[in-house]
Amino acid sequence: MPLDTGIRRLAAAAALLAGAAAAPPAAAQTTVTIACSALGIGHQLCREGAEAWAQETGNAVRFVATPKSATDQLALYQQLLAAGSADIDVFQIDVVWPGILGDHFLDLADHIDPAAAGEHLPVLVETATVDGRLVALPWFIDMGLLYYREDLLRRHGRPVPTTWADLEQTARLIRDAERAAGNDRMWGYVWQGRAYEGLTVNALEWIDSFGGGTIVGDDGAVTVNNPQAVEALATAAGWVGTITPQGVLNYTEEEARGAFQSGNAVFMRNWPYAWPLVNGSDSPVKGMVGVAPLPRGGTDGKHTGALGGQMLAVNRMSAVPDAAADLVRHLTGAQEQKRRAMRGGYNPTRPALYEDADLIAVNPVVADLAGALPGAVARPSRQAGQLYNQLSAELYQAVHRVLSGSAEAADALAGLERSLERLNRRSRR
Ligand code: GLC
Repeated sequence: MPLDTGIRRLAAAAALLAGAAAAPPAAAQTTVTIACSALGIGHQLCREGAEAWAQETGNAVRFVATPKSATDQLALYQQLLAAGSADIDVFQIDVVWPGILGDHFLDLADHIDPAAAGEHLPVLVETATVDGRLVALPWFIDMGLLYYREDLLRRHGRPVPTTWADLEQTARLIRDAERAAGNDRMWGYVWQGRAYEGLTVNALEWIDSFGGGTIVGDDGAVTVNNPQAVEALATAAGWVGTITPQGVLNYTEEEARGAFQSGNAVFMRNWPYAWPLVNGSDSPVKGMVGVAPLPRGGTDGKHTGALGGQMLAVNRMSAVPDAAADLVRHLTGAQEQKRRAMRGGYNPTRPALYEDADLIAVNPVVADLAGALPGAVARPSRQAGQLYNQLSAELYQAVHRVLSGSAEAADALAGLERSLERLNRRSRR
């Protein structure tokens, strides 16, 4: 997309949404524009939280909705920020973006009580710190989970799968039986297979679950071309068209949730935000769903889940930096994080909230996640820094070719290794 088209689109979206913004109180001092994502009820919760801040402070807020795909969202942000635009003050950013976008954001340590950062999980604060600058504050944390239909497993006498081979077998068995019983739309397993950041996440989970490492090691060396990674990708490619619909090659999180929530899949890989939605009053599978760790690659593989999540950052060009930083302080605060976790399943970045009895009572996934998080696997964004997006694009494109049958896993990974090594050399220059 040409630079100015992207910017115009965002500006137009901002203008459009401005009409629907919280009515500024008579003596409004400042208007802060915030871009928040549209996954699940994320945008609605963002709006409620920001409007509460506006009420409290006498300021006004304006909202910009962003694309659902993380990759499209990043492209728009990059266009806007590279052009030095001040149209958006506060950006919701992915945990893998501080290294890519950090230069465009304010050092929040200059605007917010530094003690505030200390209340969040240290690993996230570390991620948000680029060259000693606190470029964002953590907002919520994500981890990849396996959602399953409890009722169907019970009906067909199958346990929750602990390896991918179990999952494949169970998915096939239940899909066939349900189809024979008349549900010809039934599939086994849905996930995120479009060529975008979400596929990088899924691929990392498959590879790590087979013991194939993390694409790039802690020291920056490219590790992706190994037999376990080949086995992981070949396994996933084998699902497409059998237990997984071909259409998954164009699925992001919301399409996967759509298929699962409408009752047409036995298993789904997704983030915690899907939990309250699949159990919502309008959900056909309400009360029929369980969550578990993603399966292991094999008996010597491991349960894993990618670490995801979002942060809030302030545009360095913002004309209202103090108000913008104050909005970030409010939204990332304990009370607001608790509200978002209870209503929307957006998991807190504040360890203290994982012991909150109200929260655990409403959303049991929060309690499970507290135990699982130490086993989560991070994408190599820290190692790749500004080049992370290129690394991820090389990865999801190579994996997409394998899934769609246009490349063999071994060849694709050998090619990927060469491209990532080229990137590595560029980063050292
Ligand atoms: C979620 C995660 C984010 C990840 C994205 C991939 O938004 O929070 O970390 O990059 O999904 O689609």
